[in-house]
Amino acid sequence: MRVLGIETSCDDTAVAIYDSEQGLLGHEVYTQTIVHQQYGGVVPELAARDHLQKLLPVLNSLLAKLKLKKTELQGIAYTAGPGLMGALLVGASLGRALAWALAIPSIGVHHLEGHLLAPMLEDNSPAFPFIALLVSGGHTLLVDVKGLGNYQILGESLDDAAGESFDKTAKLLGLGYPGGPALAKLALQGDPSQYTFPRPMTDRPGLDFSFSGLKTFALNTWLNSTQTEQSKADIACAFETAVVDTLVIKCRRALTQTGAKRLVIAGGVGANQRLRQQLAGLAEKAKVEVFFPRLEFCTDNAAMIAYAGCQRLLAGQSDDFSIKAKARWSLTELVGIGALG
Ligand code: KG4
Ligand code: ZN
Repeated sequence: MRVLGIETSCDDTAVAIYDSEQGLLGHEVYTQTIVHQQYGGVVPELAARDHLQKLLPVLNSLLAKLKLKKTELQGIAYTAGPGLMGALLVGASLGRALAWALAIPSIGVHHLEGHLLAPMLEDNSPAFPFIALLVSGGHTLLVDVKGLGNYQILGESLDDAAGESFDKTAKLLGLGYPGGPALAKLALQGDPSQYTFPRPMTDRPGLDFSFSGLKTFALNTWLNSTQTEQSKADIACAFETAVVDTLVIKCRRALTQTGAKRLVIAGGVGANQRLRQQLAGLAEKAKVEVFFPRLEFCTDNAAMIAYAGCQRLLAGQSDDFSIKAKARWSLTELVGIGALG
């Protein structure tokens, strides 16, 4: 089955075509950095308008590149949530309308299910079950992925997501948007012995996270510092180390608690090199296998949506004619993927 994936939940306009026989045929991402940069963060209304302008050109360019016609598509998967309502509606409307026009089935995909299944796009994909550390701009979750569509949340952030804390701290330090990669880059210049930040919620049992205090800690440290470029880099380094250590400690706990043998990293913060190194170290010590999807599958993309949607369509699931978009949608509300799960 050849499935078009559409992702417009936040600030990336992405399309992909996944074929259940041949794998991923191609994917494209247009990132709206230039639209939001001057505001220091994503402006929802502008995101929706930009998706509206870019989605069809991005889709037509992918089809042309792959020498495919729309009539050769056999199913459509679009991100139905969670995300920014206006942004989601652009992808959902196009996906649904196209499916109607082509008389093929369509399905609204949970954005986080897409992230959780992104490692399946790689040649070396994990077998079920596995533990997934899902760290994106909007979510921080530890999930026991027992099978396709069968997810148990082991822990989650009670306030800011890990990516959000990177972005907010970067903004406080004047590093602009998008902040995570900029902060990680600056951290490379930092002296790790200068500052020590707390590792929130690691002193008590459980797998939940809380990152919102770290940005305040970073701001206070900055205000009490010499406020030079070097002290900014030292703070970035201490902040990044604290977030990464906290994530690694909780991953270790999740592996011990479940006895799982495979660990998967998903979401945009999965692009962080320090996190990747530390988790590779943890995996070696704990004798578990660790899977990192390539960077373009960690950040928002439509390949993961096409893959997840394809599995559901193959299992006989599809949506009716209504256009489905949910700003809030819990992963635990998902139904399993039939016999495939
Ligand atoms: O998964 P994603 O592309 O979008 C969401 O669904 O949120 O994740 C984006 C998040 C942003 O918060 C961004 O700052 C963060 O991932 N990020 C990073 C790095 N690259 C992206 N955070 C830390 N270090 C990085 N290298
Ligand atoms: Zn995402």
